[in-house]
Amino acid sequence: MPTALITGASRGLGLELARQYAADGWNVIATARNPADSAELQELDKQYPSLNVHALDVSDFAAIDRLARELKRRPIDILLNNAGVFGPKAKAENDPRQEFGHMDYDMWAGLFRVNAMAPMKMAEALIDNISASAQKKIVTITSSVGSITRAEGRTIAYRTSKSAANMLMRNLSFDLKSRGVITAAFCPGWVRTRMGGDGATLLAPQAMASLRRVIADLTPESSGQFWLYNGELIAW
Ligand SMILES: NC(=O)c1ccc[n+]([C@@H]2O[C@H](COP(=O)([O-])OP(=O)(O)OC[C@H]3O[C@@H](n4cnc5c(N)ncnc54)[C@H](OP(=O)(O)O)[C@@H]3O)[C@@H](O)[C@H]2O)c1
Repeated sequence: MPTALITGASRGLGLELARQYAADGWNVIATARNPADSAELQELDKQYPSLNVHALDVSDFAAIDRLARELKRRPIDILLNNAGVFGPKAKAENDPRQEFGHMDYDMWAGLFRVNAMAPMKMAEALIDNISASAQKKIVTITSSVGSITRAEGRTIAYRTSKSAANMLMRNLSFDLKSRGVITAAFCPGWVRTRMGGDGATLLAPQAMASLRRVIADLTPESSGQFWLYNGELIAW
């Protein structure tokens, strides 16, 4: 069976992706910052022998190198860069630190590290594992709010970090083409998770089932695109 490595599998979309791939019989390398804090991930670990949990804070690049060494040359069919942070919320939390006039630059750098730089580091560290697999896919969960075409102001740190992640996936489609690697950036839709909030219009099981179908259909010809979870293309 193929193997998926998922970051941020402690909760939300990453947990749902881990559950669905494991239920389909895939080998799953489910990584989380603090696996012991996620009862649901522990439960999946018990339920599915093909799912292995690894501790990984994606902002710790030395830890990414350590994980790569641990995995040796184990093939990884899909690297799913899902871990992400939104940063301070002006409306919901009355915290304006990513709005004009109030920018917290250390916070912004932290968001960039997790949302945009970590996917590059994961790809660099695991390229031999990905190249050794049958499917050779790198997928990063970004967001439609990172679309420059659709920009409408506010939440500058989150938006710019997701635009950078989109740019990364587009460029990697060229840099890794000769190795047969397919890349994709995905907006998962507005999904009910801690980040998405209670007002979100989609539920994780349905949205992630749809997103997985689109991932399954990715081809070398469609590499380097920006997708919505349902298979529509999003303007950069
Ligand atoms: N939900 C939506 O509507 C929506 C919309 C657009 C894009 N997205 C994107 O979808 C992805 C998943 O979001 P979600 O809705 O599932 O959000 P979530 O419920 O807030 O979950 C975020 C996940 O990322 C992990 N994470 C954060 N920083 C990390 C780090 N430094 N190292 C490792 N893991 C880290 C969290 O781990 P801890 O449990 O350790 O905090 C958690 O597992 C994110 O990239 C997000 O930007 C979500």
